[in-house]
Amino acid sequence: MELDELYREAILDHARHPRNFGDLPGSDRSASATNVGCGDAIRLTLRLSPEGSIEAIRFRGSGCAISTASASLLTLAVRGKSAEEAQALCAKIQRLLTGGAAPEDDLPGELAALAGVRRFPQRVGCALLAWHALDEALRERGQTRT
Ligand code: FES
Ligand code: FES
Repeated sequence: MELDELYREAILDHARHPRNFGDLPGSDRSASATNVGCGDAIRLTLRLSPEGSIEAIRFRGSGCAISTASASLLTLAVRGKSAEEAQALCAKIQRLLTGGAAPEDDLPGELAALAGVRRFPQRVGCALLAWHALDEALRERGQTRT
């Protein structure tokens, strides 16, 4: 599928029907990020397995279509990943959207749609919002945060 088409379909679909929306009951990590440009915020709640992989994750927030879609895609992409894998994916997306992409920075599946945001530089902050929150939630491994 062409990037334009993937972008339109995936962003619209996930913005209209966000997956894993709400608060996760029994979460052991949470973090919020605010887009200083518009004041919109996204909050993530997640639970890590005893081995340190992301067992379940949900998001809540009042963002635009791009931030909502990106958060929805994030919840699908990182479930089952270790904290390190999720942070590596976060760093990859940041490189991809802020211009420093390497050839190995291709994104799998529907996540590839996020590359379409590069055409709208003023919206990159929207696409990264949930990923910043994820990084924040995972940063203090081993500590319980709510
Ligand atoms: Fe606020 Fe996109 S306009 S997050
Ligand atoms: Fe990874 Fe912000 S995108 S920390």
